[in-house]
Amino acid sequence: MSKEVKSVDYGLEKIFEGAQDFLPLLGTDYVEFYVGNAKQSAHFYKTAFGFQSFAYSGLETGVRDRASYVLKQDKIRLVLTTPLNSNSLINKHLAKHGDGVKVIALWVEDATSAFEETTKRGAKPFMQPTVEKDEHGEVVRSGIHTYGETVHIFVERKNYHGTFLPGYKPWKSNYNPEPVGLKYIDHMVGNVGWGEMNQWVKWYENVMGFVNFLSFDDKQIHTEYSALMSKVMSNGNGRIKFPINEPAKAAKKSQIEEYLDFYESPGVQHIAVATDDIIKTVAQLKARGIEFLPPPPQAYYDDIPRRLGTHMKMMKEDINELQKLSILVDADEEGYLLQIFTKPLEDRPTLFFEIIQRMGARGFGAGNFKALFESIEREQALRGTL
Ligand code: FE2
Repeated sequence: MSKEVKSVDYGLEKIFEGAQDFLPLLGTDYVEFYVGNAKQSAHFYKTAFGFQSFAYSGLETGVRDRASYVLKQDKIRLVLTTPLNSNSLINKHLAKHGDGVKVIALWVEDATSAFEETTKRGAKPFMQPTVEKDEHGEVVRSGIHTYGETVHIFVERKNYHGTFLPGYKPWKSNYNPEPVGLKYIDHMVGNVGWGEMNQWVKWYENVMGFVNFLSFDDKQIHTEYSALMSKVMSNGNGRIKFPINEPAKAAKKSQIEEYLDFYESPGVQHIAVATDDIIKTVAQLKARGIEFLPPPPQAYYDDIPRRLGTHMKMMKEDINELQKLSILVDADEEGYLLQIFTKPLEDRPTLFFEIIQRMGARGFGAGNFKALFESIEREQALRGTL
């Protein structure tokens, strides 16, 4: 693991030296999925993941070509959008990629400046700065293309007091399953094509002012069969973290290659969501039918005290309980982290979720990569895609 950027402090401002502040980002605003049936997807994310009904737009709000359901859990907002007729361009996206993430929306002070600063540095425009208004005020949004057909939308909402965005109404429902303790988006990972990782690393550096703060090469991320490379990009205050993966050559097909084959382009591989109590969260998710990658072998859990070293003293969780739920543990110099990965949430082996609890560690579970990828490969073998 190589640290390429010196970290300065863990306060909210300026964590990474070298990051540029022409694009101040306040956080993730929302993540929008294009899906085949938003009503049913919304039911799934409510029932299985404990998201809450939040806002809606569609025929009843005067929108004729699409329906969007907004779901919320603590700071996380998901928007599930589906086309309402065959003319919508969303159909083309769905036919090519299946259900997946279209928009990673970023909360900014000034969406016009965000657009100007990024496009003058080479970003391809997706949406010119646009003011949207209703009786609750106004929102300015703009957007740029990133890898594949994924886009970043900049959302300026300082003059808005409505539920979500103009055009949406509050969505009240009598069906409100309990949240499972998901708090915020920790990171979102993009899979890009062969040999394209460094080009996208440069893009995030040059266009967005991000820094590369961790890198993993194929010597670190490999199993007997497959390999990948990954670089983690972060904005200056560390709130937005985008690891970028590319496949690497090995004896068999990498999970990144499998993703690219089925998504038919680069795209978002996983969304990592943070919890304060992973044991409780994962127990609830399992009880609600979420399927996780199968557990690593007994030897993995036997080895945890050695791997955690001095952090073992501060570990509050019982290893047996973690093992029962197949939760993974990793440590870095600053602490440890607990994580687990769902199986893909679509029939195409594409997007999945990670649940993560950070106990001081700022890494991404590099110590788990091998165990994790062997587990993914067993699933790939079942799909005939290894
Ligand atoms: Fe992750």
